[in-house]
Amino acid sequence: MIDQRRKIRLGVFMPVGNNGWILSKTSPQYLPTYQLNKDVSQLAEKIGFDYLFSMAKWSGYGGETRFWEYSIESFTLMSALAAATSRLRLVASISPILIHPTIVAKMMATLDDISGGRIGLNIVSSDVEYHRMGLYPKDFMSYRHKYIDEWLTVVKRLWTGEPVDFDGEYFKLTGYASNPRPIQQPWPPIVYATSSEGGFRFVAEQCDEAFILCGSDERNANSKVLKQMAADRGRSIKTQGDVALILGETDADAQRIAEHIREGADTEAITNVYDRGYQGDRRARGRELLAEGFPQTLVYRTFPLIGGPERVADFIEDMVVNGEFDGILCSFPDFIDGLERFNDLVMPLLRKRGLRG
Ligand SMILES: Cc1cc2nc3c(=O)[nH]c(=O)nc-3n(C[C@H](O)[C@H](O)[C@H](O)COP(=O)(O)O)c2cc1C
Repeated sequence: MIDQRRKIRLGVFMPVGNNGWILSKTSPQYLPTYQLNKDVSQLAEKIGFDYLFSMAKWSGYGGETRFWEYSIESFTLMSALAAATSRLRLVASISPILIHPTIVAKMMATLDDISGGRIGLNIVSSDVEYHRMGLYPKDFMSYRHKYIDEWLTVVKRLWTGEPVDFDGEYFKLTGYASNPRPIQQPWPPIVYATSSEGGFRFVAEQCDEAFILCGSDERNANSKVLKQMAADRGRSIKTQGDVALILGETDADAQRIAEHIREGADTEAITNVYDRGYQGDRRARGRELLAEGFPQTLVYRTFPLIGGPERVADFIEDMVVNGEFDGILCSFPDFIDGLERFNDLVMPLLRKRGLRG
């Protein structure tokens, strides 16, 4: 039976890296321009989506498509999109290892003002690019959650507007205050995307929303476990999942589109994403990974949701009813076409099923 009270929040995983989330030459090829992101955000607002999410991405994965070698910066983009939209919530991403908490506290307060209280912060603890930048101390991976926890504690203290004295393991402040405070009090929504134990703890203790894997019974159970972990600490959090949505008129149509994209798979980029340390023929390895892992290995670390409208609505209903998920973040092969199709084909089903107001 459908829980009539829980509605699904719909978000767009903004195309801030070239070609979005699909590792292929036969999916749409494009650069992550501001114009594209603006068009996508304004369409998303028009058709009633709830939020935009832009990731922090600083280097790519090569291959014939030079996957994500072109990327635009999350905070800069969100600042412009705050002015180009009026209703959507916006989530900007940053990795604490890159930047001092005093700076982000002020960037967020500024963005909260620009957007009229619509900004949220996604914290990123790790990725290969920070090794390439030479930013990670040797064993950072082992204490990354401790580091981001302290970093966020400082940011939250700064958002009180009061002078902060802080003598932590990584940060030290003496009588430093940051004003104005954010419009959203006590703080703008804090988001973390994770599949690790330490990450789950960090969310339960410090964050407001989590992105976790979705699309199976086990993942539905994880969503509920995480909510319970927060409840055990007297807190409440929201969970969301992310998908690369290949939506057809029917299931067969969607499969046909996916097969076409598969024909042009960027096998070298696939190896660079899914078996980075591999030493042999990277294209041959990519073909293996594709054969073994399709459709998962055709997309960058997100759930490939391939189907017609009913199947997509069933998937979302399962997340909501059996996983108590609060939101879904969608990317598309072509974002404009994908959003239009979603609005025409899936939105009416979600309304009919009580999953949208
Ligand atoms: C919705 C979503 C957004 C993400 N955003 C980013 C991002 O902006 N930058 C990044 O490097 N990794 C991103 N990731 C990957 C991981 O969240 C990130 O590497 C995180 O620090 C891993 O945390 P963990 O080690 O606690 O699982 C994202 C993942 C998901 C599902």
